[in-house]
Amino acid sequence: MNLSSSDIEQLLTTSDPTAIDELFAEGGRVRDEVYGHQVFMRGLIEISNHCKNDCLYCGIRRSNHCQRYRLSPEQILDCCRTGRRLGFRTFVLQGGEDAWFTDDIVCGIIHSIKAEFPDCAVTLSLGERGRESFARLREAGADRYLLRHETADATHYALLHPKEMRFDYRMQCLYDLRDLGFQVGCGFMVGSPRQTIETLKKDLAFIADFRPEMVGIGPFIPAAGTPFENNPAGSVELTLRLLAIIRILHPHVLLPATTALGTLHPTGRERAIAAGANVVMPNLSPQDTRALYSIYNNKLSTGSESAESAADIRLRLAAIGMEVPDDRGDYKK
Ligand code: 5AD
Repeated sequence: MNLSSSDIEQLLTTSDPTAIDELFAEGGRVRDEVYGHQVFMRGLIEISNHCKNDCLYCGIRRSNHCQRYRLSPEQILDCCRTGRRLGFRTFVLQGGEDAWFTDDIVCGIIHSIKAEFPDCAVTLSLGERGRESFARLREAGADRYLLRHETADATHYALLHPKEMRFDYRMQCLYDLRDLGFQVGCGFMVGSPRQTIETLKKDLAFIADFRPEMVGIGPFIPAAGTPFENNPAGSVELTLRLLAIIRILHPHVLLPATTALGTLHPTGRERAIAAGANVVMPNLSPQDTRALYSIYNNKLSTGSESAESAADIRLRLAAIGMEVPDDRGDYKK
């Protein structure tokens, strides 16, 4: 469906409860048309919280003093083994930009996962790398790559990032990934400092134009020790509206109900699914490292954000009429 710029503005700003309910219902209906009552589950493995970047919003930014860790390739493979037993068919390797994870190392990990689990998809979320590096990861067998664009407005981007991080380069990475045959995910935080309706409209226009296979959005949550530690968190309600709008603008997108939503609201994830989301990504990292991947305060990694709760997650989804298929959950063209 085509939403005009003024339709979008209206949907983002209205306080009419009927209009909002209709938006959520439409988001759910469009998702059902493409994917049915199915939600895909991904096992999230946080492989390192070392990061060379200094993004102003992020709790694991270089200049924040927090305890650092990285998983060994064998630990990562063990997480996949646990995940496969729990029924996962996609493993998401996410981490800060950690130079220890060279192309050789990451390619070795991808090869091992693919050799042991040929029927599973590997998603990477390891930040910006060069095109040559992305090409090697793709050749090694990685299927998907998540790299949130963070904001589609260059001026806003510069307010959230140190000057060595370039908006144009980040966007170039997304086009390179697409070009190399990855299923690509972009995304942004809702309620990040200095975000406006105008910058959000640019995010939506970018998504409508780029048509990424995946879009990750969640509310901004302040992180202790960062320049934005005293900024207010983003709104759950606005996040839900954006999820529905993204679903309507781009019906085939794989759209997670993110951990940040679940962190701010006990039924945030269910409400996201009702509004059109169709992916959940519970945490499959080793128990003792979960608390260390503290990109924002109070980040959930237990209960229904935990992979060990896969059975419970299925039950909670069944209660809202959704099933988790035994399927990699690739983008449907
Ligand atoms: N609140 C919410 N999301 C955050 N991210 C980083 N810091 C925060 C925060 N304080 C998101 C960014 C990044 C992803 C890994 O997590 O969008 O791309």
